[in-house]
Amino acid sequence: MLLEVANLCVSYGAVTAVSGVSLGVREGSIATVLGANGAGKSSLLRAIMGLTPATGEVRFAGEAISRWPAARRVAAGIAMVPEGRRILVSLTVEENLLMGAYPRHDRQIAADLDNIYDLFPNLARRRHAPGSVLSGGEQQMLAIGRAMMARPKLLLMDEPSLGLSPLFVREVFQLIRRMNADGLSILLVEQNTRLALQTAADGYVLRLGACVAAADTATLARSDDLMHAYLGGAHAAPTVHGP
Ligand SMILES: Nc1ncnc2c1ncn2[C@@H]1O[C@H](COP(=O)(O)OP(=O)(O)OP(=O)(O)O)[C@@H](O)[C@H]1O
Ligand SMILES: [Mg+2]
Repeated sequence: MLLEVANLCVSYGAVTAVSGVSLGVREGSIATVLGANGAGKSSLLRAIMGLTPATGEVRFAGEAISRWPAARRVAAGIAMVPEGRRILVSLTVEENLLMGAYPRHDRQIAADLDNIYDLFPNLARRRHAPGSVLSGGEQQMLAIGRAMMARPKLLLMDEPSLGLSPLFVREVFQLIRRMNADGLSILLVEQNTRLALQTAADGYVLRLGACVAAADTATLARSDDLMHAYLGGAHAAPTVHGP
């Protein structure tokens, strides 16, 4: 296992967002975390990244990293594409990408920038334009490119397809497959259950902060009961659950 999470808990005051979740991402694989609004998916990713206080164990490449600050986790090879993209619209495309390389001190940064531009021609054309001129789909690509500039071994992706047109959703999932084929391990949070189950090898279903199912995605995709009980059906729109 590249990433191992054991008994992870996240609370915000009286609200328990994640309660005792355990999961793993095998080296070179894609795992997906599914769950309705408020299930605790973002809290889980933020805790793995070290961006929110949590209890429990996080191991990465065999090392216990639970007490490491986020910057050290980035340097070790974990990067995150946050929910809602969070690019800086007043900075240029290139400045946004270079922000992703902040923990690095090597000489490959310019070469990696060129690789990102090869992967995303839309970004190459607008490299000196402010982030604000990008469409939603292009902003998502920029957020992914920025995370890749950290040269991660593991990429945490928080709902990368949210709010995108069907065309861009397809592009994002193609990109996920391509990055994985190049050796990147991915933990993918999605509400697009159908595409996530098609793309990932292993899946975890969260409900009210707890993991209610963990299996290979073929098994999860076959369990209609589960899909209807916790996800409102594989094709249905997400429903809102309070804590
Ligand atoms: N900063 C915060 N302070 C207090 N409560 C929070 C905070 N962030 C999240 N929560 C609560 O924690 C629970 C889990 O939220 P989280 O954002 O992790 O869920 P999610 O599965 O990512 O939801 P969504 O699908 O809407 O992104 C929710 O009940 C939410 O209201
Ligand atoms: Mg979320």
